[in-house]
Amino acid sequence: MSPDPHPWAQELGTLYDHAWHRLVRGVHDRHAPARHPTLATVSPDGLPKVRTVVLRAADKPQGRLEIHTNLHSSKIADLMAKPLAALHVWDHGSRLQIRVEAEVEIASGAAVADTWAWVPNRSRTAYGSSHTPGHPIPSALAYDNDPDQSVFAVLHLNIRALDLLHLGAYHRRAQFTRESGWAGLWLVP
Ligand SMILES: Cc1cc2nc3c(=O)[nH]c(=O)nc-3n(C[C@H](O)[C@H](O)[C@H](O)COP(=O)(O)O)c2cc1C
Repeated sequence: MSPDPHPWAQELGTLYDHAWHRLVRGVHDRHAPARHPTLATVSPDGLPKVRTVVLRAADKPQGRLEIHTNLHSSKIADLMAKPLAALHVWDHGSRLQIRVEAEVEIASGAAVADTWAWVPNRSRTAYGSSHTPGHPIPSALAYDNDPDQSVFAVLHLNIRALDLLHLGAYHRRAQFTRESGWAGLWLVP
C-alpha cells in the first residue's frame, strides 16, 4: 500500500497547523491556492456577495488575516452594515477546503500609512479615487487610476471559526473556534 500522502490530516492539531501553513504560503507565494481566496460578505439588503481577493497577511498566533481594498468598494458598505465575512480557499494540492468565519475591522487613513508605504506602484492603481468601483462609465476605459492613499483600506479579519475539510481515502472535517482556544472538533464531512 502506498503511504498516506497527507498524514497531517489524521490529527486535529496537525490538520490545524497545516491549514495555517497553507494560508501563510498564500501570502508569500503568488502561485499558492490561498493567494486568491474568495471573500463573502452580506449586502445591506441581505444578499450574499462574493469576490476574489489577495491574501496579504496571515497571523496564526492572533488568528488574523489581512486583505487590502478600495474604501469606496461595495464590500466596505456591506461590512459597515454587518462587520462579518466568510473566506474560502480550495487547496487542490492538499485536497483541503478552508472556510473561515471572521469579524472584520476596517482600517484606513493614518492608521494604514505604514502599510500603504509597502504597497507596490503596480498595486496602487487599484486605489484611484476619481471613480467609485462599480460606478457606471460611458466606455470601458473611461476611468483613471491615479493612486490615492485616502481610499486605501485594510480589512483585518479576526477569525471566529475555521472549518477544514480534507478529501482522502476517508474524508475528514473539523471545526476550530477561537472560543474553544482552537482546540478542534471532528465533524461529519
Ligand atoms: C485575481 C484577483 C485578485 C483580486 N484582488 C483583490 C483584492 O485584493 N482586493 C480587492 O478589493 N479586490 C480584489 N479583486 C477585485 C475583486 O474581485 C472585486 O472585483 C472588487 O474588489 C469589487 O468588489 P466589490 O464591489 O464586491 O467590493 C481581485 C480580483 C481578482 C480577479
